[in-house]
Amino acid sequence: MSPYDKVLSKDELISYLKNGKYDAVLALLTDKLDADVFQAAGAQCKIFANMAVGFDNVDLEAAKKVGIMIANTPGVLTDTVAEHTFALMLAIAHRVAEADHFARAGKYHGWEPMMLLGTDLSYKTIGILGLGRIGSRVAYHAVKGFNAKAIYYDVKRNEEFEKEFSAEFCKTPEEVLKKADFVSIHVPLLPATRHLINAERLKMMKPSAYLVNTSRGPVIDEKALAEALQNKIIKGAAIDVFENEPAIEPALLKLDNIILTPHIASATEETRDKMAELAAENIIAALSGQTPLNLVK
Ligand code: DGY
Repeated sequence: MSPYDKVLSKDELISYLKNGKYDAVLALLTDKLDADVFQAAGAQCKIFANMAVGFDNVDLEAAKKVGIMIANTPGVLTDTVAEHTFALMLAIAHRVAEADHFARAGKYHGWEPMMLLGTDLSYKTIGILGLGRIGSRVAYHAVKGFNAKAIYYDVKRNEEFEKEFSAEFCKTPEEVLKKADFVSIHVPLLPATRHLINAERLKMMKPSAYLVNTSRGPVIDEKALAEALQNKIIKGAAIDVFENEPAIEPALLKLDNIILTPHIASATEETRDKMAELAAENIIAALSGQTPLNLVK
């Protein structure tokens, strides 16, 4: 970790901006960009380029009011986040973390046919909530790589995708939750998706099902998830994002039937380079009087 690699508080961010008189800012998803921050940046600042595809850290209305452009980095992280989704899905279904702890603790005394039995992903039903770039890439890998059946819910139906991947559209998220063996979340964080997965909806899932989240933490009610896992309402979960990052609901830390990774779904060397380059290109475009490629409307 570089000495500059740290989350800035709002006060720190504001004081840097006030002192710096910047024309552009390359922001991170941990920077809460609101009216106070834009005011501190001043009239000469043209753009905040978020180095993330998500932009729930930005008050878009406040940016619009003061004429500051906002850009994000879609596309370049799709494959990496989809890969991490599978890393999580397979790790929880094949009990990889549990088995690793077991082996390191010196508990492996000989092969046993019933030792640490997991669950196959192949030929199962994978339910996608949010069929955007990442959700559809996850569905693609599940269908092509694991012969799984893909079902999905999205506010926008994609009949072309359904044809190509024999995928099934579900009219509600609840339908996905009831039918899927693996549910993978790929929705943006919006007022409508906050606590999309709550106690009531967790109860709709099969007791044998797994929940995976690489989108945004507040989409899941973390306390409800901990209770569902403790009471075996669902079989397991694997999550990369948390409701109150960087805090993690303490009850989750005690459970074996969940895998937790610290918001690293896009964290590969290749993808971080591409995200930084794209954010820089958005800034260069804005400062050259052009429309940035990834202007957030
Ligand atoms: C994003 O880009 O929004 C991810 O959460 C960070 O990679």
